[in-house]
Amino acid sequence: MVVMVTGGAGYIGSHAVLALRRAGYDVVVYDNLSRGFAEALQGEAFAGVPLEVGDVGDRRRVREVIDKYGVEAVLHFAALAQVAESVEQPARYFRNNTLQGLDLVETLLDAGVRTLIFSSTAAVYGEPERVPIPEDHPERPTNPYGRSKLAFEFILESLAVARGLRYAALRYFNVAGADPEGQAGERHQPETHLIPLILAAALDHHPVRIFGTDYPTPDGTCIRDYVHVTDLVEAHLLALRKLIEGQPRVPAVTTAAGVAETASGGCRLVYNLGSEKGYSVREVIQAAERVIGMPIQTEIAPRRPGDPAVLVASSERIRRELGWAPRYGLEEMLATAWAWHQAHR
Ligand SMILES: NC(=O)c1ccc[n+]([C@@H]2O[C@H](COP(=O)([O-])OP(=O)(O)OC[C@H]3O[C@@H](n4cnc5c(N)ncnc54)[C@H](O)[C@@H]3O)[C@@H](O)[C@H]2O)c1
Repeated sequence: MVVMVTGGAGYIGSHAVLALRRAGYDVVVYDNLSRGFAEALQGEAFAGVPLEVGDVGDRRRVREVIDKYGVEAVLHFAALAQVAESVEQPARYFRNNTLQGLDLVETLLDAGVRTLIFSSTAAVYGEPERVPIPEDHPERPTNPYGRSKLAFEFILESLAVARGLRYAALRYFNVAGADPEGQAGERHQPETHLIPLILAAALDHHPVRIFGTDYPTPDGTCIRDYVHVTDLVEAHLLALRKLIEGQPRVPAVTTAAGVAETASGGCRLVYNLGSEKGYSVREVIQAAERVIGMPIQTEIAPRRPGDPAVLVASSERIRRELGWAPRYGLEEMLATAWAWHQAHR
């Protein structure tokens, strides 16, 4: 089966390419390289994986790639994903993540490609009413990034009803770590994620900033749920198999009107992806000190607007329905990320 990975030159997308290849799929990467890197796809493990450069909103180009490779399913990682930037440039986020996403999915359906897995986010929930957060928690995103993702989920749901789209929306919590075999790792420009910032601070001997120490948590810093990128991409493979093969057990689309089935044959899976364990910023820093064997300096900064105190997933649904079982804990996320960072300074 030929799978197109949009955003495959990015952090999670490049790990998905590895997982797909290791599972025997043929893969083509589609990326505009606005945030990703062609070098992410270098190395033995990526040999023979084509990189097609283009915007997901470029219908003609996407169609060309579908036809050229005979694409049958899509893992859609391509997006802009920085919350603060989305607050400053909301239109850019809606255009890139939502409108270009609509162009992509219509082009797929026009070409007869009905299977799609979408990278959604815990940001669709906003400030949680209860923790751990289940999938039926109210969706009230507090920033344009989360809204651009939720808007695209609505588009997917509507197209499942009307046009037989079969999709999974996977809502990631905090993704971390690197390929345990050292073939891929995390690189964002600029970097905004805690673990790579901690590791860069250790390597460059500068302090890492802690945004807020007065949250209602045991040590005053924010608590987040970290999931290893290898476990995360494994969930995509399970969802892909389910969409392709597991027709009878796939839940039907439920719309506001209470529609339980789609005559068009579409289906919808929505899963949270998290480890279901919360670690505070200070706990992550302490774990990093243990793993790398070096002290890490810290600097206290004010809270960032819109940062909830605690975000922890309930991933019970995907464990139960697809048998997903994350294998790596926080220390392995730190150790694999550290190995990658040291090798790619
Ligand atoms: N990293 C996390 O912790 C996290 C958490 C929740 C959700 N997500 C989602 O996972 C996905 C991947 O995240 P990542 O951390 O790998 O980000 P990333 O920036 O490393 O990768 C995104 C890739 O998409 C490409 N891209 C962006 N817009 C494009 C467009 N219009 N057309 C073609 N290519 C485009 C970029 O060049 C980049 O290679 C994103 O959709 C993000 O919203 C990530």
